[in-house]
Amino acid sequence: MKLLVFGGTAWLGRTLALEALGRGHSVTCLARGDSGDVLPGVRFVRADRSSSSSDVAYAQVVGEHWDVVIDVATQPGHVRGAVAELHAVVGQYIFVSSGSVYASQRKLNQDESAPIQEPLESDVMESMADYGRAKVACESAVTSVFGSERSLVARVGLIGGPGDTSGRSGYWPWRFSRPSNSSGTVLVPDAPDLPAALIDVRDLAEWLITCAERGTVGVFNATANQLPFTDHLATARSVAGRRGDTVAASSAWLVDQGVQNWAGPRSLPLWLSDRDWFGLSAHDVSRARGAGLVSRPLEQTLADTLEWELDRAQPGPHGAGLTDEEERSLLAQLATAR
Ligand SMILES: NC(=O)c1ccc[n+]([C@@H]2O[C@H](COP(=O)([O-])OP(=O)(O)OC[C@H]3O[C@@H](n4cnc5c(N)ncnc54)[C@H](OP(=O)(O)O)[C@@H]3O)[C@@H](O)[C@H]2O)c1
Repeated sequence: MKLLVFGGTAWLGRTLALEALGRGHSVTCLARGDSGDVLPGVRFVRADRSSSSSDVAYAQVVGEHWDVVIDVATQPGHVRGAVAELHAVVGQYIFVSSGSVYASQRKLNQDESAPIQEPLESDVMESMADYGRAKVACESAVTSVFGSERSLVARVGLIGGPGDTSGRSGYWPWRFSRPSNSSGTVLVPDAPDLPAALIDVRDLAEWLITCAERGTVGVFNATANQLPFTDHLATARSVAGRRGDTVAASSAWLVDQGVQNWAGPRSLPLWLSDRDWFGLSAHDVSRARGAGLVSRPLEQTLADTLEWELDRAQPGPHGAGLTDEEERSLLAQLATAR
C-alpha cells in the first residue's frame, strides 16, 4: 500500500507511520517539520498547508497515485485544500476527527447517528473553543468530495499511552508512584458516576492502518470502552504499586479551590465536574469494534505510560495535574475543612 500521511511529525501521525512501515507499506508524510522529525524509512515532503494557495501546498504529491491518505488536521482550510487538489489521485481518505463533534456531550452512549455541531465556516480555527466545529467542517470537506464509499471518519476519544505530552494519561500512574507527601496520600475527585475512556495511541494506529489495508469506510466512534473513573484510578494505583490512601474531595470543593477539570496545570486530569460533559468519555464504540478495533488492557497502557515518563530526562506529567506543593496544600486545607 502506498500511504500518504498528512502529519507524521507529531504523536499519532508518527505512530501511524511506524505501524504502516512495520507492515511493509510505503509511507510518505507531508508536514512543515515544526513539530518534529519523521521516522527513518519515511519519505518526508516538507510543505506548509497554510500556504496562500493549495496547489502550492500539495504540488509535491499531486503528481502520484496514493492508495490511502490519512489526515490528522484540525484546520478546515487544510482539509478543504487537500481534498480539492488530490481527489483524483487518492483511493481512500481517512480523516482523524474527534468525539468533540457531537452537539451535546450530556448523553451517555451516543452512537455515530447523534446530532453534530454546525461546521466552522472559516478556513482557520482561531481558538480551541471552536475545535469541535472545526472537526465537523473537516469531516464535511472529506465526505463531500470522497463520498461515503471512499472515506473513513474516525471520531476519536481521549488518546493515551507512551508519548502523551499532554500528561493526561500519565498523571495518575505518576502521582500514585510519586506521592507528594510522606504518608503517600493522593487527592482524587469524589466522582462515582463519572465515566472514563482512554484509547491507546498504538491501538488506534493499528486499527486505522488495518482499515486502510481493508478499505474500511464509514463514520466510527473510536475510543476505548468506558469504565467508571474510579476504576481508572484504581488501575493507575495498582500499576504504580503503591498502597497509600486516597482522599476524595467533592467536585464543588475542588472547583472552589480553583482546581481545573480534565487537563493542564492545577488540574485533576480526566475529571469532569459538570454532568453536561460526562458523555465525552462515554461514546458507543460498537461499530468500530465490529470493524476490528481492539483495545489492550488499561493496565498495560498506564504501565507503559508510566515507564515512558520515568525514562525521560525530566520525568513528570508535563505540567498537567497538581504539583507536589499544590497537592500538599489542598490536602491540608481539606483536612482543616472536615
Ligand atoms: N490527543 C487526543 O486526546 C485527541 C483526541 C481526539 C482526537 N485527536 C486528534 O488526533 C490527532 C492527533 O494527531 P497528531 O498527534 O499526529 O498531531 P497533532 O499534534 O494534532 O499535529 C498536527 C500535525 O499536522 C502537521 N501540521 C500542522 N500544521 C501544518 C501545516 N500548516 N502544514 C503542514 N502540516 C501541518 C503537524 O506537523 P508540523 O508542525 O511539523 O508541520 C503535525 O504533524 C489530531 O487529529 C487530533 O485532533 C486527539
